[in-house]
Amino acid sequence: MGKVIQVRDLVKWYGKQVLALNKVSFEVDEGDFFVIIGPSGCGKSTLMKILAGVLEYDAGEVYIAGKNMKGVPPHKRDLSLMFESYALFPHMSVFDNIAFGLRMMGKDKEYIKRKVSEALALVGMSGFENRSPLELSGGQKQRVALARALVVEPKVLLLDEPISHVDYQLQRKLMEDFKVIHKKTGNTFVLTTHVQDHALTLADHMMVMNTGVIEQFGTPEEVYCRPKTVFAARFVGDINLIPGEVASKDGDMYVVKTEIGEFKAASSGEGHIKPGTKLAYGIRPQYIMVNKSVKNVNYVKGKFVRNYYFGKYVECIFNVDGKAELKVSVPPEEAVNLKLEKEYTLCWNLENSVLLEKPSVIEGLNIEEVIYGK
Ligand SMILES: Nc1ncnc2c1ncn2[C@@H]1O[C@H](COP(=O)(O)OP(=O)(O)O)[C@@H](O)[C@H]1O
Ligand SMILES: [Mg+2]
Repeated sequence: MGKVIQVRDLVKWYGKQVLALNKVSFEVDEGDFFVIIGPSGCGKSTLMKILAGVLEYDAGEVYIAGKNMKGVPPHKRDLSLMFESYALFPHMSVFDNIAFGLRMMGKDKEYIKRKVSEALALVGMSGFENRSPLELSGGQKQRVALARALVVEPKVLLLDEPISHVDYQLQRKLMEDFKVIHKKTGNTFVLTTHVQDHALTLADHMMVMNTGVIEQFGTPEEVYCRPKTVFAARFVGDINLIPGEVASKDGDMYVVKTEIGEFKAASSGEGHIKPGTKLAYGIRPQYIMVNKSVKNVNYVKGKFVRNYYFGKYVECIFNVDGKAELKVSVPPEEAVNLKLEKEYTLCWNLENSVLLEKPSVIEGLNIEEVIYGK
């Protein structure tokens, strides 16, 4: 499979103060649904604008479909950019909004009519040709903006936070739509978001960004199950992190000494971690079991101190020796039987834990500082 986007050592400064992209390198496969996830201000929009050709950069290289994009204007890049604020022209009808790009390309009337009609059908908005954008709901505007971006048949569609700012129901619907439309068109989609669920659900491949850098690249499953840094583990999914030190290694099993006991972890197969190494021991809340005995497990006693109801599950907080708190996702029907202030045994399988040596790819950070935000 060809690489449709190749970015190498991309650097972007805003003035002399803000280093928005610090040697960012990545590649996107042709036809991929590629999601860039990271907190607000990490540089997602900056990256999208540079890909689109509407923002200058300071160093590095950007290739689209194998061509160096240096000096190539936006309309010659074979891509469309859809911003979070969908920016439809309010004084033009839906038809004219979508036709705009095709008219700029000098296409004839019949062709434009057919393509606009196809694009509207694709986003489920047939029959809305003569409406004004002012007469559309948020979700409908979003679909028209998507049709406008798709109608020029770009190789790459850049979607900058297209679903983060609408209500939850609509987010779900738009996610399904994006996925279906991606499949139908076979185009490469690059979408940014700060919402972990969107990234995990939509992406074929994803990239986790932290201030100007890439923390991790991989499939949603790789990033979720085998996070490489504390930052990535935390940003994509909830996780309990306990600072510790590797006490020993026995075959494929590590023993990690922490303030609340010694815990075992399976070797992830990614290199050997030396005894004495300081790291974070991580276990996601859904893998911890309350009062169950499972073979070959880690266990610890904790006092049930608080809970948060989420409908599908209850997040129960257990205090261990006054030294640490562990979050556990408990099915509601089991949570009703737990008594506040009572002590329970918590256990988890060693396969489900992760060992994180690095707080972040950003150098010079201390694990405990990153975990506790000190
Ligand atoms: N035009 C600008 N001038 C100065 N700083 C900017 C400008 N645009 C963005 N920034 C800064 O660059 C960083 C990255 O911003 P941005 O790419 O918009 O992040 P994101 O889209 O991930 O929220 C932030 O620190 C932001 O404040
Ligand atoms: Mg942004």
